[in-house]
Amino acid sequence: MRQLIAGNWKMNGSLTMARGLLDALRAADAALGCDLLVCPPATLVSVAAHALLGSRVAVGGQDCHAKPAGAHTGDISAPMLRDAGASHVILGHSERRADHGESDALVRAKVAAAVAAGLLPIVCVGETEAQRVGGQAEAVVAGQLAGSLAEDFAGVVAYEPVWAIGTGRTPTEADVAAMHAHIRAELERRLGAGGAGLRILYGGSVKPSNAAALMALPEVGGALVGGASLVAEDFLGIARAVRG
Ligand code: PGA
Repeated sequence: MRQLIAGNWKMNGSLTMARGLLDALRAADAALGCDLLVCPPATLVSVAAHALLGSRVAVGGQDCHAKPAGAHTGDISAPMLRDAGASHVILGHSERRADHGESDALVRAKVAAAVAAGLLPIVCVGETEAQRVGGQAEAVVAGQLAGSLAEDFAGVVAYEPVWAIGTGRTPTEADVAAMHAHIRAELERRLGAGGAGLRILYGGSVKPSNAAALMALPEVGGALVGGASLVAEDFLGIARAVRG
């Protein structure tokens, strides 16, 4: 399977910025050996979907509500994202878990909502620095997988150590490889054969200079990129570094 390089713009982006960036991705996409996904803020999902129409660059949301519609001021549902042109949605990002107190059970409900709406969920897991130092990283991630994924899960998992997000720090290549092997084993144990083929992305301070080494590791199916996804040359630099 081709690797997936996914950009999480977080709470960044304007109409002007989006147009320039998306045009650059569109122009470069055909020559890449990987799949591209952009996840702009909800205000720009429809803009991105229109700008990328006819290209292979996919568009995703950064979160969705667990209900398809209703009295939930300020929230956005999975069918709304689909309607706006999204095909994917990031769920359970550590910033959502921290800023909005999202639990594994809520993430699991959101995954069900996303799938019901025809979106491919990208479920984020990862330990804090204290948990890694305390030797609990694998147990924490196993717990998040068990709580967030139903037995028929068929989406993407993103391993994002919380302490590596936006910090410029990354785990060692050995630690990334070990955690991805652990996640693969957990997916196979919990999902059976279905767990064998799911993409497992690495996220946390991925940039052009470290992408080739990270993307060459076994069981790394691509990257979830935050800061570097806001600059076309950086995001494309990462995409060009994949093993193809
Ligand atoms: P970063 O963010 O690339 O800026 O570290 C990654 C993420 O949060 O998905």
